[in-house]
Amino acid sequence: MRTQSLIQEAEKYLMATYKRFPIAPEKGEGCVITDVDGKKYLDFVAGIAVCNLGHRPPELVEAIQHQAGRLIHTSNLYHIEPQIQLARLLVENSFGDKVFFCNSGAEANEAAIKLARKYAKDQGREDAYRIICMNESFHGRTLATVSATGQKKFHKGFAPLVTGFDHVPFNNLEAAAGAVTDQTCAVLVEPIQGEGGVNMPSPDYLKGLREMCDQRNILLIFDEVQVGIGRTGLLFAYEHFDVKPHIMTLAKSLAGGFPIGAMIAVDEVAESFSPGTHASTFGGNFLATAAGIVVMKRMLQGELLAHAQDVGVHFREGLNRLKDRHNVIKEVRGLGLILAIELTIPGGGLVSKAMEKGFLINCTADKILRFVPPLVVQKEQVNALLETLDELLAEAE
Ligand SMILES: Cc1ncc(COP(=O)(O)O)c(C=O)c1O
Repeated sequence: MRTQSLIQEAEKYLMATYKRFPIAPEKGEGCVITDVDGKKYLDFVAGIAVCNLGHRPPELVEAIQHQAGRLIHTSNLYHIEPQIQLARLLVENSFGDKVFFCNSGAEANEAAIKLARKYAKDQGREDAYRIICMNESFHGRTLATVSATGQKKFHKGFAPLVTGFDHVPFNNLEAAAGAVTDQTCAVLVEPIQGEGGVNMPSPDYLKGLREMCDQRNILLIFDEVQVGIGRTGLLFAYEHFDVKPHIMTLAKSLAGGFPIGAMIAVDEVAESFSPGTHASTFGGNFLATAAGIVVMKRMLQGELLAHAQDVGVHFREGLNRLKDRHNVIKEVRGLGLILAIELTIPGGGLVSKAMEKGFLINCTADKILRFVPPLVVQKEQVNALLETLDELLAEAE
């Protein structure tokens, strides 16, 4: 069993930052992952909402191979053609005017935090540096983004945190308005909270935040690291809610599994980043952006988005049927292919049992089973998971 020996070596050589499941994946295709011992799994995690085109999509493999054969990295001292092309695709298909590339979601949010502070300073608001964030939010693990994150469990042991983040309840416009002071420069919010439990915004919440920001002369930042790039069935989640931010962050699925992050902003705000203000050695390098172009082009063709909407509705209906049959399901929620069931019991045991039966699913916020499969997932694959969940939930009751 190669898995067992890999687990032993992992314990010996890797820092114990992750509580890993006893699986060592080796190959993937579409929604199927095969581990080093030949066991197959249907993947409803997609590398945590990353592999939107599925595993090993031929066009992505080809683009990465082609680019690797020409040039991998030069730094941002020079002009990088695929980076420019990817930026154009993002700008032409979003609210934004300019893009900054980096390598992860946390870095994209760091960039957004710095840009919001810098913009306020450039406006002559020297003391405006505070950012209103939401309880149960998740924005990353760097010191600033973990400070922005509205979950105490991620703060433990890292004091003093970065100052300047005020947390208020999600979906509460009054609380947000009440937290605004002369020192506030921005509001940072996930349109749908992912790690916090797939928490949906109430209908006019995001629009209300934008109105408040306009009235109080502060910026609205959407963290679409988890829900952007087709996850909800539209290219960006904000498109569902008739609202636009000043700044948006992306990462995860933007390059289909190749590390990348991006921060997009409207021109007026983007102008606050001038040469020397912010940078990243690897940000937007040849390989990452060549991969990102493939993902964006596939999204813009539209069929995959339509497919994600269609399968998402089917999946959700199936989860609702499970809710009718099992009292342990409190609520079904989500949009497109970010779906969740809130349980009355901890979900960790169900994740392990599903794994034994060949399904990868994820539990977040203790009692929420979250489903974020590759967008190429088929209805038959969803049905297979629903059948297994039906059995497992019956056992759990
Ligand atoms: C909404 C959101 N923002 C930021 C991050 C951090 O991204 P990364 O792990 O790439 O730094 C995540 C990761 O789960 C996320 O879900």
